[in-house]
Formats: sequence, structure tokens, C-alpha cells
Amino acid sequence: MVFYLLYYGIESFKFKQKDFEELLEQARARNEKLNITGKLIYCEGTFIQVLEGNEADVKDVYSSIIQDSRMVATKLVTTGNVESRHFGGWSMDFKEISLNTINDFENCTHPDVSDYINSAPAIKLLKLLTK
Ligand SMILES: Cc1cc2nc3c(=O)[nH]c(=O)nc-3n(C[C@H](O)[C@H](O)[C@H](O)COP(=O)(O)O)c2cc1C
Repeated sequence: MVFYLLYYGIESFKFKQKDFEELLEQARARNEKLNITGKLIYCEGTFIQVLEGNEADVKDVYSSIIQDSRMVATKLVTTGNVESRHFGGWSMDFKEISLNTINDFENCTHPDVSDYINSAPAIKLLKLLTK
């Protein structure tokens, strides 16, 4: 089983290209050492991230993250265990999405999609949202 943790937080200043680069370089280096994988999403100033790996390591990294001055108001959304990794190929995949993507998704009334939204664990939803 693989432990996962999903949280969101808000940037403490307006991130520029070089800030993302620095952040990803640092995050990926540490994650690689700890065999942590996951995905980081940035949407108009908000970060949403899922971390997966060994429970103690994921919690250690998360405790660094909540003390990181680049982000404020972090909020833990959910934790759990999955059979296998959802983001196995990535020491930290990154994607920037627009608010429209989220709105389009929420407003989609196709029954298959609304059933999926209502039943999907947050981690699956995140994957779908950033396809
Ligand atoms: C939005 C955001 C996401 C981050 N993601 C990770 C991550 O996936 N892995 C990681 O090691 N550090 C990540 N960091 C950086 C950590 O907060 C921290 O700076 C880094 O792990 C070094 O921690 P340390 O100074 O306690 O050694 C992230 C920081 C921010 C602001």
C-alpha cells in the first residue's frame, strides 16, 4: 500500500517562472531521494498537491511544506492508502490550470461525469482535472 496526502495552499507572493523552477528543482530532488511521487497543480495563486510514498516520509515533507514561507493558509484535504501509485512516473509532476478548467468541469452535467465527480476520491478527481 502507498500512503497519499492531498492539501492546498495559497502563494504568499505572485509566483514567476523562476520561482516555479526553483521550487520544482528543490521538491524533485528531495522526493527522488525519498521515493515520493505526486502532482502539483497551480491555479491562479492556489497550489493543490498530492504526495504519495512511505507514510513517515510524506508526513515529513508535508511538515516542511506547511512551514514554507512561499505559501500561506495550507489546508489538509485528505490522506489515505492506495494499492499503487497514481503518479508513479513523477518525482513531482507540475501543471498550471486556469479557473475556467475547474468551472467547466464543475458545470458539466453529463451524467457519467457528475456520477464520477460525486463518487471519485479526491485523488482521482485531481487526475481527471489535469488530464
Ligand atoms: C507549493 C509547494 C510545494 C512543495 N512541494 C514539495 C515536495 O513535493 N517535496 C519537497 O521535498 N519539498 C516541497 N516543497 C518545498 C518544501 O517546503 C521545503 O522547502 C523543502 O522540502 C526543503 O525542506 P527543509 O528546508 O525542511 O529541508 C514545496 C514547497 C511549496 C511552497
